[in-house]
Amino acid sequence: MDDDISQMIYNFSAGPAVLPAPVLRQAQEELPDWHGTGMSVMEMSHRGSDFIRIAETAEARLRELMAIPEDYRVLFLQGGATGQFAAVPMNLSAQDAVADYVITGMWGKRAHAEGAKFLDRANVAASSSPSTYVPPQDEWRLTPDADYVHITLNETIQGVRFATVPDTGVVPLVADVSSIILSEPIDVSDFGVLYAGAQKNIGPSGLVVVIVAEDLLGRARATTPQVWNWFENAKSGSMLNTPPTYAWYIAGLVFDWVADHGGVAAMAEVNRRKATKLYAAIDQSGCYANPVAPANRSLMNVPFTLAHPDLEPVFLAEARAAGLVNLEGHRNVGGMRASIYNAMPEGGVDALIDFMKEFETRHG
Ligand SMILES: Cc1ncc(COP(=O)(O)O)c(C=O)c1O
Repeated sequence: MDDDISQMIYNFSAGPAVLPAPVLRQAQEELPDWHGTGMSVMEMSHRGSDFIRIAETAEARLRELMAIPEDYRVLFLQGGATGQFAAVPMNLSAQDAVADYVITGMWGKRAHAEGAKFLDRANVAASSSPSTYVPPQDEWRLTPDADYVHITLNETIQGVRFATVPDTGVVPLVADVSSIILSEPIDVSDFGVLYAGAQKNIGPSGLVVVIVAEDLLGRARATTPQVWNWFENAKSGSMLNTPPTYAWYIAGLVFDWVADHGGVAAMAEVNRRKATKLYAAIDQSGCYANPVAPANRSLMNVPFTLAHPDLEPVFLAEARAAGLVNLEGHRNVGGMRASIYNAMPEGGVDALIDFMKEFETRHG
């Protein structure tokens, strides 16, 4: 089985996260000598024809996978999703403008806090507390003349996912899709801007992918740093300065892997199966719990707690010894979290469920 993880572990990290084993093997083979060029991709000029080919192929593959319309630009930038928290207002709004934020977890909160530095009015249109659900859209207090509405389609820490894409009318919808991109179909045309840190379903950290409607380009304020100016980056093919070339190359290999495995719809089918069985194991136990409203449960990040919190370190240590690693919840919320991105084989989820049942029998 080419997709089996050759190491004897299953890595449930939220990010940087597990990558497909065939991608790692191909990267290993090509590391010192890419396609007979005598050099590593890491050593190539980003302006040389070889790297340009790698870059263009990766973009074309991502466009196919996500059916990205022609009138959207795809940017491969640095600074992570956090950089985009600032880039969004700098590219879409003047300082004295208003933008709406819907906060359903910690990343949305951070996006808002950063956005508020660059906007006189960064309005919280809705916020869930605790972050265990998405407030229904009829309760949002949207601003009619907002420049955009920002959401986090999947909150990685709390494991909260929008079940449907909100309708914001003529106001562009901007979404942080860091932990949901490529895991299920997303209709790009519903959004003005999508951005995703790469280190979950795309590739290594150090790369952020921005997908932006062309008609939103050119609104950037004059003070926007060049490296975060979407228009400037679109004009230069994300080569305004040296892009994260190696991460871009690995992203291309991951895109090929997704395509070879049937594309995003096929990923979604497996992802739904993996998540459904893991939530069922949690719900049916007397020992584990997940607080998220069923309709908003993430298919990618599954947080859970133990009825006896003092057993959590024991759970984590025993899981680690069984080869199930990086199950610690985010440091701000504690508990456990299993991130089950595309590259997590179904066998990894089965192994986790078996371990959880066995742990409950021994300690429950
Ligand atoms: C939804 C979401 N947004 C933003 C971030 C921050 O990403 P970065 O570390 O690339 O800035 C993360 C990181 O895990 C995330 O999960």
